[in-house]
Amino acid sequence: MCGIVGAVAARPVAEILLEGLRRLEYRGYDSAGMAVSNGNTTERLRRTGKVQALADALAENPLSGHLGIAHTRWATHGKPTENNAHPHMSGDRLAIVHNGIIENFEVLKAALIKQGFRFTSDTDTEVVAHLLQAELNGGSAILDAVNTVVAKLEGAFALGVIQMDNPGQMIAARKGSPLVVGVGIGENFIASDQLALLQVTDRFMFLDEGDVARISCDGIEVWDQAGASVERDVVRYEHSVSSADKGEYKHYMMKEIYEQPKVLAAAMEGRLSNGRLLEQAFGAGASEIFDQVKQVQIIACGTSYHAGMVAKYWIEDLVGIPCNVEVASEYRYRPVVLPEGTLFISVSQSGETADTLAALREIKDRVLASLTICNVPGSSLVRESDLCLMTNAGPEIGVASTKAFTTQLVGLLLTTLALGRRHNLSEEKETEIVAALQQLPELTRQVLEMDKDIELMSQSFAEKHHSLFLGRGPMYPVVMEGALKLKEISYIHAESYPAGELKHGPLALVDKDMPVVTVAPRNGMLDKLKANLQEVRARGGELFVFAGCSEQVKPEEGMAVLHMPEVPAILEPIVFTVPLQLLSYHVAVLKGTDVDQPRNLAKSVTVE
Ligand code: G6P
Repeated sequence: MCGIVGAVAARPVAEILLEGLRRLEYRGYDSAGMAVSNGNTTERLRRTGKVQALADALAENPLSGHLGIAHTRWATHGKPTENNAHPHMSGDRLAIVHNGIIENFEVLKAALIKQGFRFTSDTDTEVVAHLLQAELNGGSAILDAVNTVVAKLEGAFALGVIQMDNPGQMIAARKGSPLVVGVGIGENFIASDQLALLQVTDRFMFLDEGDVARISCDGIEVWDQAGASVERDVVRYEHSVSSADKGEYKHYMMKEIYEQPKVLAAAMEGRLSNGRLLEQAFGAGASEIFDQVKQVQIIACGTSYHAGMVAKYWIEDLVGIPCNVEVASEYRYRPVVLPEGTLFISVSQSGETADTLAALREIKDRVLASLTICNVPGSSLVRESDLCLMTNAGPEIGVASTKAFTTQLVGLLLTTLALGRRHNLSEEKETEIVAALQQLPELTRQVLEMDKDIELMSQSFAEKHHSLFLGRGPMYPVVMEGALKLKEISYIHAESYPAGELKHGPLALVDKDMPVVTVAPRNGMLDKLKANLQEVRARGGELFVFAGCSEQVKPEEGMAVLHMPEVPAILEPIVFTVPLQLLSYHVAVLKGTDVDQPRNLAKSVTVE
């Protein structure tokens, strides 16, 4: 996945590129590099490790020039070494950065080696540099060379290219990986994500699939897949610039957890009126599509998949139509049965996750319609789906998703209302749910007040190596998400189970070294859950319970209980997620891990 950034300006670009890389570090952070052209030479600096290592190197060997590209890497082909870090060069006059995967690189590489090109890295990217050089050697101009080369590439890519002989311009190309052009005044930029460029502009042009662009200080020219010159709209960034900064918080993750009351309100803003859902929020034609839906297929990855799992409980309960949920990496590769009237819903924070996007592309023509619940306007899923509902969470930087998840749940609950009013959901019930939703920001605020107690609780985890998370009904996906958070950022092995499955295996693991976490709202499953908790206690397991109401679950020896505010049942999956986020955060801080950038993970997985 990797992040790329490029700049062409009248001022020196190295600092702009470095700041861009810092803001893109969530996309990959095992090595970083930069190439800057000063009119006479193209200088390159690369370092393994985080962007800070590159910054330190730059402080000692500054790169000066008005044209440059930079990259932060998440290794796919080849280890995170300096040689494998981008930019890659062919000769000393051409440098490129790449995000994505060139699937046919081996064939291309073999042919290039025969032609006499020497490879200095194990990456798939280096073939692109040499292919371009081969075209330039044959007399092509750089733009023609890029057009010829991208036609030979299979896979996904976003590319930034600079060439010494054209010191006033860079070429960008995208297919399958995100790339945005930042529009400045007398200077222009490219990046994998708008966030990288917020320090220099708030105006952006999103390139379409297959677009190639030539970017200079005073112009941006774009050609589409067919080679026709096209205009792409310039849009203003919608969120405040500060939403991408850490502010008073030690970590982005904590800031994002604390932003939830605000962003949950934003996720509903303009979508509810007089106790009803305004279904125009889903886009033109939504009502006609919803009228025809007979079943729902939800596809997502990671945290977003857990949001989809919660929605299944809501849709089957409140709408009364079948709802299947599956991870995109499985779904995209198997023959699937799609009954008539299927609404395909993709759930994605980034809107760029390769597997989710591939699943959409695979079935798009075979379903009634596609809807994406997404946080990034202009992202590929948004552009390629028939309908979309933006979650309005603002930029999420912490790799472990928090506010993106809870706002996805709001989006999915709104979807449930839209579908429900055509099936089993009465007007009274819809109004009741809307009233509950309006309490959500305040309830979340109350949960955040439990932070100190949760921090205390976290001390019991820091020394543990394993943990078990139990939940029942819609709380099962909530504990799946809780366990995922803990393993992502604290590296403690965490397994989630539907509590009723305890006796079918995991009970064998329970002893004093295996903390068991559970969420126990006051729903119809509480008595059954309490019986499961007794099974744990009887085996000496230590229990950590987030309970719904004081009378029903009482603390006792070996069982810590924190009581949550009184929550309408429909909101329990959203509200009970928050203490699990806080618990993981505090355990990770105690363990001293890199909370915002946990090892081996990346925020946006735009490769398979
Ligand atoms: C990565 C991120 C997760 C995220 C998943 C799906 O694994 O680290 O936080 O849930 O991708 O991403 P998406 O952008 O599609 O929600």
